[in-house]
Amino acid sequence: MANFQAVKVTEKVWWVGAVDWHLREFHGYRTSRGTTYNAFLVLDEKVTLIDTVKAPFFEEMRERIASVIDPEKIDYIVSNHAEMDHSGCLPRAMREFKAEKLFCSMQGEKALKAHFHDALPSLEIVKTGDAITLGSNSLAFVETKMLHWPDSMVSYLTGEKVLFSQDAFGMHLAGSERFADEYSDSLLYEEAKKYFANILLLQSAKIIDLLNNLPGLNLDIDFVAPDHGPIWRNGDQAKILQLYREFAEQKPEKRAVVLFDTMWHSTEAMANAIAEGLIQSGIPTDIISLHSCERSEAITKIMGAGVLAAGTPTINNNMYPSLGDILTYMRGLKPKIAVGGAFGSFGWSGEGAKQVAEAMTQMNIEQPAAPLAVKYVPNAEALAQCVEFGKTLAEALKNKLQN
Ligand code: FEO
Repeated sequence: MANFQAVKVTEKVWWVGAVDWHLREFHGYRTSRGTTYNAFLVLDEKVTLIDTVKAPFFEEMRERIASVIDPEKIDYIVSNHAEMDHSGCLPRAMREFKAEKLFCSMQGEKALKAHFHDALPSLEIVKTGDAITLGSNSLAFVETKMLHWPDSMVSYLTGEKVLFSQDAFGMHLAGSERFADEYSDSLLYEEAKKYFANILLLQSAKIIDLLNNLPGLNLDIDFVAPDHGPIWRNGDQAKILQLYREFAEQKPEKRAVVLFDTMWHSTEAMANAIAEGLIQSGIPTDIISLHSCERSEAITKIMGAGVLAAGTPTINNNMYPSLGDILTYMRGLKPKIAVGGAFGSFGWSGEGAKQVAEAMTQMNIEQPAAPLAVKYVPNAEALAQCVEFGKTLAEALKNKLQN
């Protein structure tokens, strides 16, 4: 192996996870900068491992643990989240480390049994308000259902004041540095936003509930230690909590996204003219071609945008498949969009733009104008209509922002 070492987080807490430098896809999300699977070792009278790593990274985790303690001295393992990127090597860890108990939530027990069947004995269920004594510290549990799965919970280590937050407050970012203060704010913002948009957006209301409830739980948090990406310390923990609040609130921003796919560049010409109308009205606008931008990058731009204009050609009596893909993704993630508009070029039947408009209506996106459809290639008059269409969307957003 590579002589992997643990990284000290506090006097009693060590990072013993794995860095997946080369991951480029995580259930449909393009992880352009790889990821980490964070696991944490608490060295107290009861040696406790918080979460594990994706199965192929077991040896890396074991070597990091062995750099500070014999892995067979681990007494407890806590599974904060049953998804396989954190639970994949749990059966092997329980077996080879000879851990006495595995703690998880009630939903965690169901999920782990459905994944690993009889391979995980010694499961003990914990719920919100429960705590276990490790020696000089205790570990308290708070269930965080649906952040990211029904089983999810967070654990709080008293004394060391570490919140082990599993997927929440994480990001997909591989790197040799373990702490947020070792990265630039712009990189952290970009990756935190992308992660939120693709993993947690549909649970925005629950995120706000969690953030509102944290003070009442009397958790004095010095460290936020998620299962992906850097650990937050030295006051930066407040930054990520605030960032999550901003993302979850989804207040419409004064900016627009014009999203399109195109067959013979006619819908593209419409997109450019609609964007021009928005820009001339003072709305900063991104133009996104689904030829060059995949869905996880597109949803990151869409999240928070006050206006979404979406355009498609009609092919075989339908919208383009790429529009179907992004709209399906949006239907699941439920971004709040203040103002929408559908457009597209067509040859004869012309269903595409209408279908995009219907999808927007189903997502409760208000559309101040009927879908704008142009037969074949837009002429100067049609392009002028597109500019006006963009201006109409801009005015609708301005009205909403004033109210
Ligand atoms: Fe990182 Fe929901 O797993």
